[in-house]
Amino acid sequence: MYRVLVTDGVSPEGLKALTEAPDVEVDFRPTLNEEELKEIIGEYDALIVRSATKVTAAVLEKARRLKIIGRAGVGVDNIDVKAATAKGIIVANAPGGNTVAAAEHTIGLMLSLARNIPEACARTKSGVWDRKSFMGVELRGKVLGIIGLGRIGSEVAKRAQAMEMKIIAYDPYIPEERARDLRVKLVPLDTLLQEADFITIHIPLSKETYHLIDREAFVKMKPGVRLINCARGGIVDEEALYEALKEGKVAGAALDVFEKEPVTSHPLFSLPNVVVTPHLGASTVEAQLAVAEVIAQEVLTALRGGFVRHA
Ligand code: NAD
Ligand code: MLT
Repeated sequence: MYRVLVTDGVSPEGLKALTEAPDVEVDFRPTLNEEELKEIIGEYDALIVRSATKVTAAVLEKARRLKIIGRAGVGVDNIDVKAATAKGIIVANAPGGNTVAAAEHTIGLMLSLARNIPEACARTKSGVWDRKSFMGVELRGKVLGIIGLGRIGSEVAKRAQAMEMKIIAYDPYIPEERARDLRVKLVPLDTLLQEADFITIHIPLSKETYHLIDREAFVKMKPGVRLINCARGGIVDEEALYEALKEGKVAGAALDVFEKEPVTSHPLFSLPNVVVTPHLGASTVEAQLAVAEVIAQEVLTALRGGFVRHA
């Protein structure tokens, strides 16, 4: 029997290919910390995680029989891919399944910022009828700067075009034709920072992108810009963002992700023009089913010696 460990609340329904397989035994455990994971990882042939479980080199050292780590989502920044590869462990993700969920959440955050919806909701529910404090701005005619025109960035572009926004993007790795097909103008990062009224981030967290949006980047931005980060904490320097918001250079920020997660208290939470959600970009019934189905198939294939598509 192959033994599979599943953490981080991956959809059990989407994992039916594994739970119903005659040669597989699946254990569901909540998010495990490094020590807990180190203690039990040696018993498993496969591990399936979302973003909360950190699969470190120390954990992998104890993984005597692990063949594959399946990430039920896109970002693999919570997995030490180099250490896994050195041990011959496959790291597979499930790109595509949560693209629309993350794009829709991004649009929701952008509208929340433009129209102060979360603040106004809280004020109204607190028993105050306040129509003066929440003057918004329209998206129509505004410039949206998309950093990273991959799967999610592209879906955000399509949806923002329906709201009559003008879209520019910075992504040095995609071909011009792809941007042309999407009716998006590719520009250097500095141009995007200078011209955008709204900036949204859709790139992976890596050494290259860590604090890509730092103090210097905020200086280059248009006064009154609004920033959305539904990609990864760590791409935006949170201290620099706090200062830019306090100075009024940035009119608002909407954050689904943070450098340290989970986070229950943060200086940014004290600012009224900051909208936050607890890493909910991929949290739709449809997306969770889709990513779990993809990763279940990949894990089954790897365990049975087949070819993994998204390694
Ligand atoms: P993707 O690989 O399809 O797109 C990423 C794009 O970023 C690519 O086009 C790539 O060329 C570009 N890119 C890479 N490095 C860059 C750089 N330094 N500067 C500019 N562009 C760069 O991935 P995706 O499916 O669109 O997901 C993007 C990221 O969103 C993921 O890596 C993940 O971290 C995050 N994500 C978050 C949630 C959430 O719940 N908040 C959900 C899904 C994905
Ligand atoms: C991802 O990279 O896919 C997201 O962070 C969503 C998730 O954590 O499941």
